[in-house]
Amino acid sequence: KIFKDSKEASKAVAVEIADLIRERQRQNRSCVLGLATGSSPKSVYAELIRMHREEGLSFKNVISFNLDEYYPMEPDSLQSYVRFMKEQLFDHVDIPKENYFIPDGTVPLSKVKDFSEEYERKIDAVGGLDFQLLGIGANGHIGFNEPGSLVNSRTRLMMLDHSTRVAAASDFGGSLVKVPKKAITMGVSKILSAKRVVLLAWGERKAPVIAEAVEGRVTETIPASYLQTHPNAMFVIDERAAHEL
Ligand code: GLP
Repeated sequence: KIFKDSKEASKAVAVEIADLIRERQRQNRSCVLGLATGSSPKSVYAELIRMHREEGLSFKNVISFNLDEYYPMEPDSLQSYVRFMKEQLFDHVDIPKENYFIPDGTVPLSKVKDFSEEYERKIDAVGGLDFQLLGIGANGHIGFNEPGSLVNSRTRLMMLDHSTRVAAASDFGGSLVKVPKKAITMGVSKILSAKRVVLLAWGERKAPVIAEAVEGRVTETIPASYLQTHPNAMFVIDERAAHEL
């Protein structure tokens, strides 16, 4: 779906998420969200915060699982996704602290495998993801599933692509050496198991990869292309990101 700009698009996505949360509230059920970081979802979170403040949208029944976290990473570091999520959403709404989960960038290397399996078990234990929000890397990654990630890949430690680290350097004071070389990411199979998937992309910079992911063949070299195989996935993009379609 192509919107005039990211503001219009973000509003529509926030309304979809809010409607889902409210529907689950009426049914007395939890709403399980898969959440993303990066600049793209910020405007969606801002709109959800506005709906919380002005329309009384409650997040008490929301359980959320974030896609990824740098490794290693301390939760209170400037660049941590824990910090990002608190600043961009969680600290501004009424989601209970025990209801949100973000991969832990502090687990010892020898425990990452156990941690990753446990992370997936926690998602399964609450009935799976109702809705997964995604951004897209310029190289086609989703979460931190870099090119080469298989469709059946599980939550795991991933070596980051050079291009991903270069793109992230501005968040680390412009210094490539400060960007972690690894990340823990939810696997492609868990992302695709969500009942609904919405991928956001704004701006001309994303136009080439959007064209490949939407119109190219399904391939592990562009992990976002796997969404073509999902029965209920949508790319929500602005006119500039649609430029090469
Ligand atoms: C990082 C995140 C991804 C995100 C991507 C794009 O790599 N781990 O989940 O989709 O950045 O970020 P942006 O939305 O800032 O372009």
